[in-house]
Amino acid sequence: MLEPVMKQKLGDLAVFRGSPAFSEKLHVGKPNIGNRERLVARINDLLDTKWLTNDGPYVRQLERKLAEFLDVKHCIAMCNATVALEITIRAAGLSGEVIIPSFTFIATAHALQWQKITPVFCDIDPRDHMIDPGRVEELITPRTSGIIGVHLWGQACSTESLTEIANRHKLKLMFDAAHGFGCSCNGRMLGSFGAAEVFSFHATKFFNTFEGGAVTTNDDELAARIRLMKNFGFSGFDNVIYIGTNGKMSELSAAMGLTGLESLNDFVSINRRNYQQYQTELANVAGVRMLKFDERERSNYQYVVAEIDESVTRVSRDQLLKILWAEGVLARRYFYPGCHRMEPYRSFFPHARLLLPETEKLVKRVLVLPTGTAVGIEEIKAICQIIRLAILQSEEVGRRLGAI
Ligand SMILES: Cc1ncc(COP(=O)(O)O)c(C=O)c1O
Repeated sequence: MLEPVMKQKLGDLAVFRGSPAFSEKLHVGKPNIGNRERLVARINDLLDTKWLTNDGPYVRQLERKLAEFLDVKHCIAMCNATVALEITIRAAGLSGEVIIPSFTFIATAHALQWQKITPVFCDIDPRDHMIDPGRVEELITPRTSGIIGVHLWGQACSTESLTEIANRHKLKLMFDAAHGFGCSCNGRMLGSFGAAEVFSFHATKFFNTFEGGAVTTNDDELAARIRLMKNFGFSGFDNVIYIGTNGKMSELSAAMGLTGLESLNDFVSINRRNYQQYQTELANVAGVRMLKFDERERSNYQYVVAEIDESVTRVSRDQLLKILWAEGVLARRYFYPGCHRMEPYRSFFPHARLLLPETEKLVKRVLVLPTGTAVGIEEIKAICQIIRLAILQSEEVGRRLGAI
């Protein structure tokens, strides 16, 4: 990529007809790819053996390595996290209503609704953007069978309080850990909390297998059920003992995973360096709050999350988004406008927003900035300069954007 152009005045901004700062677009979640030669060697090997799927040696090896890394008894690799959630929800016996945050990717809700289980949306804690345990109990009804906590951005949600609530009300607790691979909670790796945790290894995630996911659990029986269910319920040749589906991970995906695992430390250090640079660049910009990671915990630092308080910046999150996109910086709103405002949930619960004031505020503020192995320090300096320039001259920005 060519050196980014540093923007000094408003007329330099691409949205006002300047030339874009970046010759190549910067994405949120551009895939982290490990050592290409090692990957190609593995692909050649699986092409030679012609073992492409169905519990092959690469999948087994990946499952072993992941279980070891996460310090959990069972790891079941899957084709993606959505199917892994669906299977785990069914295998854990969830039914009726399940409490989840609305501020999550739609798959958390869909995995329930897909099997006619009602997602009940809980508000979030504005400090960490995750489910607020203080609001869970008021949502429990005689139909409630469980809670799904969602770890976001590379940090853990309140595992301790959720566990306590679930135990007290005899509810099942599981976690959507799609964002949580390689992260810890009180020093313990995510993967062994609740009845089970579900990871996503989608291409945009910190660690990817092209498409993929995994369920981890310390529960032997649950693990056995999940294994059966992800393979049509087959318990051996010609013997189906359970209802099931196809949730298998392919050998190609596992080969990518094994390769990525070898570079995990490099991915973390690049993400951490980028996160720190963003923190430095945007630390003193009034109205911009950068989400901070707890340095006592392990994180994958995969998401750089800014909150834009328009009442201070005088330029809205969406205006900033427009300015950045024109420069080739494909920053993202996240989980906008909240699951409760998407179908079918919007029609099912038209008043859900009344119970979700913090979620409603947050979805208008969150701006996720590009990081990962494809983004360097110079790019971050140029991105932050654009944000500072737009906020510093917000009045003129508003006037000119209004005139476009
Ligand atoms: C919080 C959350 N849950 C579930 C998913 C679904 O993951 P997958 O794309 O692997 O099905 C994602 C991924 O985008 C996610 O961010």
